[in-house]
Amino acid sequence: MKYIPDIPYSLKGKNVLIRIDVNEPVNAEGYPQDTFRIKKALATIQYFREKETKIILIAHLGNPQESGIEGLSLKYIAQVLGELGEFPVTFIDKPINEISTDSIANLQDGEIVFLENIRFDAREESNDKEFAFSLAQLGDIYVNDAFSVSHREHASVSAITEYLPSFAGLQLAQEIEVLTHILMSPDKPAIAIIGGAKISTKLPVIAVLEEIFDYVLVGGKIANEYIDEYGQAQSEKIILPIDFVGAEKYDIGPKTRALFGEYIHKAATIVWNGPLGYFEEKPYDEGTQYIAEAIAQNESSYSVLGGGETVDEIYNLHQESKIDFISTGGGAILEYIAQKGQLPGIQALENNTKNS
Ligand code: 3PG
Repeated sequence: MKYIPDIPYSLKGKNVLIRIDVNEPVNAEGYPQDTFRIKKALATIQYFREKETKIILIAHLGNPQESGIEGLSLKYIAQVLGELGEFPVTFIDKPINEISTDSIANLQDGEIVFLENIRFDAREESNDKEFAFSLAQLGDIYVNDAFSVSHREHASVSAITEYLPSFAGLQLAQEIEVLTHILMSPDKPAIAIIGGAKISTKLPVIAVLEEIFDYVLVGGKIANEYIDEYGQAQSEKIILPIDFVGAEKYDIGPKTRALFGEYIHKAATIVWNGPLGYFEEKPYDEGTQYIAEAIAQNESSYSVLGGGETVDEIYNLHQESKIDFISTGGGAILEYIAQKGQLPGIQALENNTKNS
């Protein structure tokens, strides 16, 4: 795979298509309620601005093919990106097939345009080659800086690499570096903490986590589902809750918090994804808070966390500076582990033959 600092030629005046992931929670009008991913997109954009490259940003918001397009325009996200980066951003609200190369021909070196939600076109999610080809006509090179959508085999993540020299952006490079280290050589004892819902997607992940980590602590809805399905842990490495809050089991109980706390205290590597209870509703957020604080207190460990709710919790507690790496990945971080790094978007960059 080639990274953007590997690009051997001058980037001045060239058109770079950058796939970013700014899929933030938004209000009914589409105004972002969080800026974590938007901020993470800035470094690569700045890199190309300094190289005086013309920048065309591609991103998605939500799942418009399922929910309809209402409230899913990227207009406000584009505006907030410009405010945070302190640079002008021109939003183009046309469908991709109506954007001709002429409409970006007037772009000056270092200027930025932001395209409308790429998922408004159904061909994005079907990885349509013709669609990827028309997108590729807008650029000279392609950069994937969207780790958190790299588990999707979509046109702006995968097929597009067939038509342009393609590189990994700065955020993607950092995500790969940290997660490769975790997969290949984590300091021991290494623990993974996994919570949230959707056991069907997380069960295969738990199996791989068991291979890599000394212990896998499971909480949240998936722990309840796991217990319903298997009754007890299927391996000594899997640590399940031993008590709960309330009959509905909406949170891990005090004994479980203490037990998980002991593992966290002794760990040299900690990876955490997913809340440990129904944390949207007080007081069922307390177990998740307890775990977040315990991780932050173990300052000698190498800690990595990812996933919307998990990241929110650490920011709400103002403990983010005590975490070694906060991933932009939600589902992608789990897929990365389950697939041992073989995500479609990353493989597409590895297989790119246009960049030599
Ligand atoms: C995410 O929010 O995890 C990414 O943006 C991917 O979104 P998706 O799950 O809708 O593909």
